[in-house]
Amino acid sequence: MLILGIETSCDETSAAVVKDGREVLSSIILSQDVLHRQFGGVVPEIACRAHLESIVSVINSALSDAKVQLAEIDAIAVVNTPGLIGALLIGVTAAKTLCMALDVPLLAINHLHAHIYANNLEHEDIRYPTISLVVSGGHTTLFLSESETKHVPLGWTIDDAAGEAFDKVSKILGLGYPGGPVIDKLARCGNRRAVIFPRAYLEKDSLDFSFSGLKTAVLYYYRGQDARTSGSKTPSEQEVADIAASFQEAVIDVLIDKTVMASKMYNVRGIALGGGVAANSRLRQRLEETSKEIGISAYCPSPRLCTDNAAMVAGLAYKQYLKGDISLLDVEAIP
Ligand code: KG4
Ligand code: ZN
Repeated sequence: MLILGIETSCDETSAAVVKDGREVLSSIILSQDVLHRQFGGVVPEIACRAHLESIVSVINSALSDAKVQLAEIDAIAVVNTPGLIGALLIGVTAAKTLCMALDVPLLAINHLHAHIYANNLEHEDIRYPTISLVVSGGHTTLFLSESETKHVPLGWTIDDAAGEAFDKVSKILGLGYPGGPVIDKLARCGNRRAVIFPRAYLEKDSLDFSFSGLKTAVLYYYRGQDARTSGSKTPSEQEVADIAASFQEAVIDVLIDKTVMASKMYNVRGIALGGGVAANSRLRQRLEETSKEIGISAYCPSPRLCTDNAAMVAGLAYKQYLKGDISLLDVEAIP
């Protein structure tokens, strides 16, 4: 079965053709980073307009890369939630239009569940239940995954998402957007024990997250106690690398500790990561070390499948199709 997946929930316009939920025949990802960089974050209006301008050519490229004709597509999958409403609407409208024109079924996909499914594109042997952690620009959510399609949320961020914290700290340190990849790279030359930033664990046994205090702590440390001024002394390149490494370690400590705690609480057989922050090299290293320490299988998609892409969407859609979870053409985009 050939499924065309469409993803426009944030700032990547993406389309992919996936066969039988596993074989990625094509995956086109058009990033809008250059459009948002000057603003230090995603501007919804700009994102929406850029999706509109490129969606048709991105879909055409996905079809030609896969060497399939539109008439050969058996179903259309699209992320309808969560995301920026204007951005989601472009993908959802394109998908509905194709379904009507081709008379094929529509599969509405949850973006977070698709991030978790990215692991299934590369691993056949995942045994359930697992604890899944989605760490992205908009979300930090722990799920109890009972199968490829059934995910029960256990905890989430009460303020900033992990990726958002990376992006905002990058802005504070003057490193640009998106912050995650830049901090990841710079942190490799920094001392992660140079500054002891706060780790917010919240109440005992809480599976929720909070990163806004950490972000403020970085701001005060970098600019001095009076954060309204830019401080008298400009930190050296090495000091900035040390702050980046120390910040990154504080985020990762909490992500790993809470994921391990959840895996023990629910006595699961594995841990799966997903979302843009899962591309972080230090997080991947810590996950691998931790999984060996506690003797549990851990999965993390290849970096290209961590950030937003339509292959994970078309893959999950196949499993939803097999379950008969097919959407009506009046399905809504939900922000
Ligand atoms: O999943 P994603 O592409 O979009 C959302 O669903 O939000 O995640 C984007 C986020 C951004 O905040 C970006 O800074 C972060 O993922 N990110 C990273 C890395 N690569 C992307 N964060 C840390 N380390 C990375 N290597
Ligand atoms: Zn995402």
